[in-house]
Amino acid sequence: MKKVIYENVADQKSAAKRPPVERTLSHNEVPENLKEFAKGRSFYIRTYGCQANLRDEEIMAGYLTAAGFARTQDPRKASLAIINTCAVRENAEEKVYGEIGSYKINKQKDKDFMLVLAGCVMDENNVAQSLMETYPWISLVIGTHDVTRLNELLSKALEKKASIVSVRSFASEVVENLPSVRSNPFQAFVNISYGCDKFCTYCIVPYTRGRERSRKMEDIVKECEELVSQGYKQITLLGQNVNSYGLDFQDGTTFAMLLEAVAKTGIPHLRFLTSYPTQFTEEMIHVMATYPNIDHWLHFPVQSGSSKVLKKMGRRYSREEYLDVVSRIKKAIPDIALTTDIIVGFPYETEEDFQQTLSLCEEVGYSSAFTFIYSPRSGTPAANWEQIPPEVSHERFLRLKEKIDECTAKSSAECLGKTYTVLVDGPSKRNAEVLSGYAPNGKLINFKGPSYLTGCFVQVKIKESHVYSLVGELAEDPLIAKARDVSFQMHCDPLLKEYLKLDQAVQNDPEIKSLGEALLEKKKKLALAFGDDISYPNAKREYEEVLQKIRNHPLLHNRDALREQVEQTLLQIRDSIR
Ligand code: 5AD
Ligand code: SF4
Repeated sequence: MKKVIYENVADQKSAAKRPPVERTLSHNEVPENLKEFAKGRSFYIRTYGCQANLRDEEIMAGYLTAAGFARTQDPRKASLAIINTCAVRENAEEKVYGEIGSYKINKQKDKDFMLVLAGCVMDENNVAQSLMETYPWISLVIGTHDVTRLNELLSKALEKKASIVSVRSFASEVVENLPSVRSNPFQAFVNISYGCDKFCTYCIVPYTRGRERSRKMEDIVKECEELVSQGYKQITLLGQNVNSYGLDFQDGTTFAMLLEAVAKTGIPHLRFLTSYPTQFTEEMIHVMATYPNIDHWLHFPVQSGSSKVLKKMGRRYSREEYLDVVSRIKKAIPDIALTTDIIVGFPYETEEDFQQTLSLCEEVGYSSAFTFIYSPRSGTPAANWEQIPPEVSHERFLRLKEKIDECTAKSSAECLGKTYTVLVDGPSKRNAEVLSGYAPNGKLINFKGPSYLTGCFVQVKIKESHVYSLVGELAEDPLIAKARDVSFQMHCDPLLKEYLKLDQAVQNDPEIKSLGEALLEKKKKLALAFGDDISYPNAKREYEEVLQKIRNHPLLHNRDALREQVEQTLLQIRDSIR
């Protein structure tokens, strides 16, 4: 029987309480035994669920890379695998059990193989204990609050030759200085807050990710500035409810202020997830309408079109209030694309309530939507209520899907003939000659073009519309688009920026200007004295004195010291075009 050390086990009730927030820095030194273990070994991570989980994956990849592990995309070749789970709906949770079973082979082939279970499912009561009893090849179970202790806990498991469970059910930490390996070189996710305070009656998030706590504005802006200087083109700010960002500081900080500060970093495209409808203030609408780099796309979960169901769901708005915010947003930003989340089959939902959801979809005119059948989650209030028969929920789900497809097709058709700025993701999986990318309104666009446009912004004119995607045509010379991208990258590069700044200072410095004039004069004098044995040595000395003064001038010295590195960067940029 394998030894299991239970450091902490999940307790959903205490996870939902609000402790005082502690701000700390991640300890990034790697324990020696883990460094030794990582040599020549690789890791694999499989993530389920939302963007918060995807960002956790990037952070866990950051820890493992720092430890010295390589990464593999083949789970069978991994010496360490992480399953990053999602608890929002039951079917997402069920998939995980099959996947844990599949790693038995890895353990049979390699007795040192380590399987790590992470993510929201681990934060549910009794899950870790039952996993440890059923699957002896699990080495470590961590909750969402323990991601920052990954290396420390792996090291402990190696040292004690035991399996470890550490699921801290509290939400008191905001950890900065996190290592991270971002999954996309030009689009980045940035966490702005963790957890949620809303306690919608169907939702498990406040019991897994805990109460809401915001990162400090200066830490978020600094992270975004670094992304800009690394050449990132798009940032998505992440929070379960971005609109309540900063309320926990109780100093008047709002999400609108943060959004404005991030827009000012110069990131070309800025978006955010997820908005709580009635906390979407006039200030937010104003900021969104003012800054051209904030995409006119808004994910605006409604959940239901019936005020009665919304009340049961614990959503703090009625159908009318939701529609009122939508109409104010549309008035200020006429080309806004709205997407949403909708749950059907929630307890007490009648056919009439469902009809209201259908009519609301039509009224808003969503450009797309995520649709879900209600899934009771243990520990949430609605799980104890009388449930709708599954066949009724399924039938409503199909009708809703039909309605959403109708809305999506209609909004796609409205894109016909328009030209959009598209951030190119790369060649499409099915055809290498076809590139794909997303327009600022969130629509997927396919078009023919050279693969060197990956990561660039291009102008694409829409020629065909399908329900889930659009087909377009490049509306400009691809080389011009690439040249624009290179110029953008040069402007973002911190080294080139510093060089240009120094060069500008050199141009404007009066002392350097007069030294330059003096040098010219001495040069003339030198030329005139040429051949005259008496005046030439004097003229040469005077000329060299001025030259020396120029060489020793700190501004010129600093600029020229950067020149070699600048040349290297330019060569790298040249190679990236080839
Ligand atoms: N059942 C079905 N859907 C759910 N969601 C959250 N909890 C549940 C649940 N118990 C949906 C909501 C939310 C999205 C992320 O997942 O629509 O906005
Ligand atoms: Fe869940 Fe509601 Fe919070 Fe969204 S706002 S994470 S649905 S509790």
